[in-house]
Amino acid sequence: MKRVFTLLLSVIPAFVFSDDSIMVKMREHGADVPESMYGVFFEEINHAGDGGLYAELVQNRSFEELDMPAGYHADGPWLYPAQTRYHLDGKVRTDRRYRWTVEQIPGWELESPNAIMSLTRESPMFDSAPTQLHLAFDGKETVRLVNRGYWGMAVKAGERYHLRTIIKTSGGYNGKVKAKIVSHANNILAETVIGCGSNGEWNDMRSELVPSFTDREARLVLEFAGGMGQVWLDYVSLFPEETFNRRPNGMRNDVARFLADLRPAFFRWPGGCVVEGITLGNRFEWKKTLGDPAARPGEYSTWGYRCSYGMGWHEVLQYCEDIGAKAMFVCNVGLACQFRMGEACSEDSVRYYLDDCIDAIEYAIGDPARNKWARMRAEAGHPEPFPLGYVEIGNENWGHVYDKRFDYFYEELKRRYPHLTFIYNEMPDREGPSLIKKTDMIDPHWYETPGFFYGNARLFDTWERGKYTIYVGEYACNRNVGGGKMVAALSEAAFISGMERNSDIVRMASYAPLLENQHDRRWATNLIWLNSDQVVGRSSYYVQKMFAENRPTYNVKVTHTAKDSLHHVIAGYDVQTKELVVKVVNGSDRPYDVTMAVEGAGRLSAAATAITLKAGNLNDENSFDNPYRIYPQSMPVELAWATDGARKLCNYTFPKYSFTVVRLKAE
Ligand code: AHR
Repeated sequence: MKRVFTLLLSVIPAFVFSDDSIMVKMREHGADVPESMYGVFFEEINHAGDGGLYAELVQNRSFEELDMPAGYHADGPWLYPAQTRYHLDGKVRTDRRYRWTVEQIPGWELESPNAIMSLTRESPMFDSAPTQLHLAFDGKETVRLVNRGYWGMAVKAGERYHLRTIIKTSGGYNGKVKAKIVSHANNILAETVIGCGSNGEWNDMRSELVPSFTDREARLVLEFAGGMGQVWLDYVSLFPEETFNRRPNGMRNDVARFLADLRPAFFRWPGGCVVEGITLGNRFEWKKTLGDPAARPGEYSTWGYRCSYGMGWHEVLQYCEDIGAKAMFVCNVGLACQFRMGEACSEDSVRYYLDDCIDAIEYAIGDPARNKWARMRAEAGHPEPFPLGYVEIGNENWGHVYDKRFDYFYEELKRRYPHLTFIYNEMPDREGPSLIKKTDMIDPHWYETPGFFYGNARLFDTWERGKYTIYVGEYACNRNVGGGKMVAALSEAAFISGMERNSDIVRMASYAPLLENQHDRRWATNLIWLNSDQVVGRSSYYVQKMFAENRPTYNVKVTHTAKDSLHHVIAGYDVQTKELVVKVVNGSDRPYDVTMAVEGAGRLSAAATAITLKAGNLNDENSFDNPYRIYPQSMPVELAWATDGARKLCNYTFPKYSFTVVRLKAE
């Protein structure tokens, strides 16, 4: 039943109260919301880097994709890891196997029946990336070698593509190779001739291709019509000039912008489980990601395909600088993934891993005059330090071995770099940080159901303060929601509202995983989907974006009478814009009619902006065909404020299945 309140006798019309109310107390300041609050977690999973953010168009450009970690063996489509012991129980997990390819040479096809292609490691151009493709042919026909890239190459008419070919020819071959970009319908879009010596020496050839038409499923064709002979290819790279910020060896423009639009305060790299590896033999090794891309070996990634290491530590740091994010480096403490083989290095080798982490930090921020890794950064064109802010010590490790190693790493790293923030990865329900000496932050992870995220929107209200702060480094509603649905996004919004309200303790958060190439979903639910030329934000992406774009300076106290656990409200004040920012999640199937009461404001403007993300159905989601089905609509709204003593009142209806941000000038 609605209450009717007559304000200022009969001059102003009666104000009709809704059954539910939101009370904002402007003068009751809550926690400051730090700039660090919303960031991104990047890992090479789902082809997030190769075939995703990294702009290279050629798959298996270095021909290393069939290289496997030491002690592994393949049988058909499966790769069996080295039989290492799980460090906590001493057992070998014999039931583990991982995806392997059955392609003869991944990424490459030979369209000529009389030619033979094979891999060799004889006389390599680079010892670090020794595999080459060897072609032998009789010269009677034109031999065509084709690369389709990562499920098709997207090329744009009139743009420049840099082709780099490291090639050797011998025998009677005249050393001429035609390189073509060919459309999905077999039309030649661009063509050039690579001329090289035929004296059996390596030639590092560079040329340019400018397609005449745009195509999203183009391929690169190398044609050999120079007579009988032999050809070795060590490296074939086709790279767009138009990368993000035009960085050479940089990021794909559209994907990098899409991430930058999230305004990430930090960028976590390189993971994720890839940091640890299935065994230590395939952990992510940042040092191998430096220098000439042609010399980088890559690694069989924990997520079932080879990562080229093309998007390396330098490129990541550069991207962070370009988008104004702080870098977060995650180091290995000599432990392989504890959900996989759980190998541990011996105690004598732990120092090696610590030094490796120190070197990564030095590469990012060290003084080139004093440190060789910092000097390498300067030689790579960046003498100034990069914006490194955080180091996570281990990824999803737990148990007494991890805790001991954490203490050892933390003590040394904090002593050397007191200004950096070091993070302990806490696995909820496991022993937790009570067993370590000290940490700056902890990083709990949650991959859960909508019910969990709604139910835990107040989790941090009662979390113990004073020991450390929290970085929720991985979270996503990914259970019972397929590839993602609006119900997931709304439940995450409820959970994030709890993090933002408690930003005195939760200082950082990142959704995970970040990117998925639609052709290789290795993890069920990911924030952003892409293919060769499209980038699609799921509903959860827009929730992230709305929080990041509407981060207030500090929280203000809110109470609300909602009896429904699907209603969540927070409010804050943006000192720069002098705006009150109210965020409301209505996960229910009915509009949420509320009376908003604001106490303690001198002046409240009637003109407001409402940014609303809504769906007709909880199962709705964006798609490649309909990428903006769920998209934040920003609308000017008039709020009819009435005055009731020290309070100002107005009514507002939040649509069903919605997340809304209301911004209005307030003093
Ligand atoms: O985000 C996917 C995986 O989830 C990460 O690699 C790992 O840290 C966690 O288990």
